[in-house]
Amino acid sequence: MSAQQMLKVFVTRRIPQEGMKMLQKAGMCNLSVWDSDEPVPRAELLKGVAGAHGILCLLSDKIDTEVLDAAGPNLKVISTLSVGFDHLAIDEIKKRGIRVGYTPDVLTDATAELTVGLLLATARRLPEGVEEVKNGGWSTWKPLWLCGYGLSGSTVGVIGLGRIGLAIARRLKPFGVKRLLYTGRQPKPQAQEVDGEYVPLDTLVSESDFVVVSCSLTPDTQGVCDKTFFSKMKKTSIFINTSRGAVVNQEDLFEALSSGQIAAAGLDVTTPEPLPTDHPLLTLKNCVVLPHIGSATYSTRGVMSALTANNLLAGLTGSEMPSELKL
Ligand code: NDP
Ligand code: DGY
Repeated sequence: MSAQQMLKVFVTRRIPQEGMKMLQKAGMCNLSVWDSDEPVPRAELLKGVAGAHGILCLLSDKIDTEVLDAAGPNLKVISTLSVGFDHLAIDEIKKRGIRVGYTPDVLTDATAELTVGLLLATARRLPEGVEEVKNGGWSTWKPLWLCGYGLSGSTVGVIGLGRIGLAIARRLKPFGVKRLLYTGRQPKPQAQEVDGEYVPLDTLVSESDFVVVSCSLTPDTQGVCDKTFFSKMKKTSIFINTSRGAVVNQEDLFEALSSGQIAAAGLDVTTPEPLPTDHPLLTLKNCVVLPHIGSATYSTRGVMSALTANNLLAGLTGSEMPSELKL
């Protein structure tokens, strides 16, 4: 390809080399990379996308009308290194005929594993235990000390039995879970595999010992976990969220945790990210907060990177994408 025919691509962050190498090797991209582990400042994003044919972005980049206008009419494809796409102005993107690539399936196992780890850590108070060992609080074996809640014989409720929700349910069932409830927009045939019972949200919230949120963030799910939601949960139940921070009203969660309305919460996602170090949730022993690491295994991030690059290249050449979001 001659220099004039090269297609301009803006990559909004340093990404695993698997994807970068593919973009370089393809020989069709005039690559411009925000070569940092930190997010691209908004002004640099707007500058960087000008005239771009393709944008490779992350979940922390808000791709809205302003960015699309800044990119201009050349823009054919947006490829995001994530399965979540709530950071993309989908209606506007669709209107402009721009294609979108994303990364479903390849991160399902890693995210489900992390969710199970976070659930166990929260329910069995692992971070508190580790802290007590380090700070000298461990005086002897005490029958009433650091007790938590177990999965055996429990009822687990999954909000959003999609790819990740089902993978979480599959992993939790062998711990001896008695009932597996789920809710969503409609019943799922694949729920049979985990003996899942489709129930209304209220039933799930009031009957579950563990409430696990794994739905996508949409206008319907935004803020759904609020004061009313927490007030219906059992005092002994555990709340886990590995979807997006904005499904939760964090002030209401703080109230529910500090008043003993619910037993504990484990969050891999928050609003904002990062959560400020002086945030009230971080003062609570019964709240375990992780820095959005659901898909963070070396191999998963490598595969996500390669898939994101392949989606982008297919979008540039007008061919079939390995994972295209149906708009
Ligand atoms: P899927 O699209 O397979 O699953 C999303 C699920 O959300 C679907 O089952 C959908 O149900 C459900 N849903 C949509 N609207 C509602 C609603 N109003 N009430 C209840 N459920 C609803 O996506 P994935 O499982 O692959 O990913 C899910 C989300 O997990 C991503 O969107 C992302 O935000 C998050 N994620 C977080 C990660 C992390 O690092 N913590 C890693 C990867 C993903 P239906 O099919 O009926 O519409
Ligand atoms: C996603 O892909 O949506 C996650 O939040 C990060 O892997």
